[in-house]
Order: sequence, then structure tokens, then C-alpha cells
Amino acid sequence: MVNFTVEDHDGNRQEIEAPDDMGFSLMEILKASEYPVLATCGGMALCATCHVEVLEGKDELGEATDMELDQLENLPEYYPTSRLACQIRIGDILEGSVIKLRGEDQ
Ligand code: FES
Repeated sequence: MVNFTVEDHDGNRQEIEAPDDMGFSLMEILKASEYPVLATCGGMALCATCHVEVLEGKDELGEATDMELDQLENLPEYYPTSRLACQIRIGDILEGSVIKLRGEDQ
């Protein structure tokens, strides 16, 4: 299991524990944890509604790939450590990180 912190749109933080051996993406875990992530493209890196900002742990998680940047650049606002949650695999690299939800919440 891997533990990390999620900050919602109101700034409330919650610790999340997720299995790291089942191939889930961060987007799937956020949805399963009942966060308002639309994920309209189903995790294909096409909708950017799973936009998150990596507040801590950015070195481990690395930078957005070109495919992610293509989507992020279309958003009204994105950040140096913005990522698409559907493109982050749950694994050790997430341990101790802090992830802020940035996608649309309706
Ligand atoms: S779920 Fe659509 S870009 Fe991540």
C-alpha cells in the first residue's frame, strides 16, 4: 500500500491509502475515494478534467509528458507541477506526496 495526501478544492486535506500492485491510476483512486473528478475521457489523456497539481513529491513524480502538456496547455490555468492524474500510476513514487485537485469539479 502507498499513502499520500489529497487536497480538495476547498483546501481540505485527507490521507489516502491505495494499493500499489493493481495497476490503478491516480485518477481511478481519486474517483474511488469520491473526489469530484469527471475523467470524461476515461483516462486517455484527452480531457484534462483529472488535472492535479503536485504540491509535494514533485521530484519523484517528475514532469508532465508531452501528451499531458498538450492537454494542460489548453486549460485556462496550469502550474509548473501540473499533471494529469490518469497518467500517474499508483506506486512507491507517490508515497508521502501531496496532490491538489485542480480539475473542474462540476
Ligand atoms: S481522465 Fe481525461 S485526461 Fe485524465
